[in-house]
Amino acid sequence: MDLQQAAALLHAARRVVVMTGAGVSAESGIPTFRDALNENGLAGHWARFKPQDLASPEAYWRDPETVWDWYAGRYRDVTAASPNAGHALIARLERRKLAQHGEGAFTLVTQNVDGLHLRAGSRPPLELHGNLTHGRCEACETVQPLPAPETFVPPPTCTRCGSRMRPNVVWFGEMLPQDVLEAAQLAFERADVALVIGTSSQVYPAAGLAGETLRRGGTVTEINPDETPFTPHASFSLRATAGVGLAALMGEQD
Ligand code: APR
Repeated sequence: MDLQQAAALLHAARRVVVMTGAGVSAESGIPTFRDALNENGLAGHWARFKPQDLASPEAYWRDPETVWDWYAGRYRDVTAASPNAGHALIARLERRKLAQHGEGAFTLVTQNVDGLHLRAGSRPPLELHGNLTHGRCEACETVQPLPAPETFVPPPTCTRCGSRMRPNVVWFGEMLPQDVLEAAQLAFERADVALVIGTSSQVYPAAGLAGETLRRGGTVTEINPDETPFTPHASFSLRATAGVGLAALMGEQD
């Protein structure tokens, strides 16, 4: 398959699902996880820790203060960041498909916890790994937005029961929210076209979802500047950054 065919299939598709990973937020200045693991590409609080040493239940119960400090720093960073061209094009594709083919014609699934899709004008995406702009009560499990970064002093307290809240993200070793995962699976099963953008396709179950679209006869286009373990399976692979690749696929280069 070539770019022209992939673009034509996307244009004609009645059911589209888009999966995004950290690469989609890279151009907003938010380091990807693989960047954070690479000693050379580090900045700020990312330089002090490896994500997997802090993003686990064990790390949190051992030292909630340090884990909250790290998340508070990331929360400040994502709040200060702005959505980029890639986020904007995904929101535009969503509006277009919903206008043409109605409810169910577009689903956005993200592994990102930064909330940037919503700020770019997308409807609330299926957030497989939660959202770090929210806390979840350790006792009653109520999910609440964190106070504004200027006034936020971690850890946050549940306004309903007064208990401490944890970051509302899925940590290494934790289950994904079942309802969100099931909705994502259904969207990939039903899709004519799936786009897999800016993810290293190494973390499951997210990495396995696009295979469902292929098994049911749909096509999958990957947009990523680098090759991934999914590349050999993709119907078409666009070696480009999210914004540039999406613009080419949607015929919006100007
Ligand atoms: N546009 C598109 N893709 C990009 C860009 C860009 N500008 N820059 C980098 N990439 C690609 C990289 O080539 C890489 O394949 O984005 C991918 C980022 O990979 P990861 O950092 O592994 O991010 P992701 O796949 O989202 O990670 C999955 O791992 O640690 C966990 O829970 C965390 O949700 C995260 C999950």
